[in-house]
Amino acid sequence: MDKRIRNVIAGLGCVAFVAVLWTVYVHQVAAQEGGQTQPAESKEAAKKKGQEIADVHMDQWKRKNPHRVEDWVAEEKERHPIQPPADNSDLLKGEQGTGHTYGQYTERDILMWARETEKMVVEGSRIFHDADLLGSTVAVSCDMCHPDAANTHPETYPKFQAQMGRVALLRDMINWCIQHPVRGERFEPDDPRMRALEAYIYAQRKGKALNYGKH
Ligand code: HEC
Repeated sequence: MDKRIRNVIAGLGCVAFVAVLWTVYVHQVAAQEGGQTQPAESKEAAKKKGQEIADVHMDQWKRKNPHRVEDWVAEEKERHPIQPPADNSDLLKGEQGTGHTYGQYTERDILMWARETEKMVVEGSRIFHDADLLGSTVAVSCDMCHPDAANTHPETYPKFQAQMGRVALLRDMINWCIQHPVRGERFEPDDPRMRALEAYIYAQRKGKALNYGKH
């Protein structure tokens, strides 16, 4: 090859190399400056705010996507001990003729019953532990006085409650606590929140003998 052409190619190579170095350098300076324009503190606050917004959206999304329900159920079960529903697997053992009460059902049905029942109980746990979901005006939730549903004694209902001057059902006592210590508005008996709270409180006393009227 001609010597001049080789020199030109080598020269062009050098120029290209310097150009690459320069680009990398400029990018680094820009990145550093970019990092310094925002103080660390406000960056932290923005990050926290962003996380909060993300959590709210995630929660909404999870509730709208039932196939992801397992996630919040699992999370709540990690946060609070929850009694499992009864094991009904032996229903399918032995003779399962069509005339049999459970003859039509499969293992999948039994699993679905347990999962749905537990989901309602877990939803009750979420409400029980959350002042906002309870509608408290003083940021008080049930667990502050009844950790893990302690001292709720659902097995003693119905019973005469002196402070009400009448025979109360469990849901009446739940409403009494919502109105008084929690300072919220009472739930209607068929309000899904009331149904879930009842489910959770009963579930936590699994195995306890019924003894209505007991003080
Ligand atoms: C600030 C404390 C406090 C909070 C918060 C509270 N409770 Fe109570 N709860 C009590 C007290 C005190 C009693 C006993 C009242 C009585 O029997 O006269 C009680 C009684 C009960 C009982 C009846 C227990 C029994 O032995 O018959 C149930 C059920 C109950 N609470 C559920 C709840 C639920 C559900 C919540 C949340 C919505 C809640 N409580 C929040 C203090 C509280």
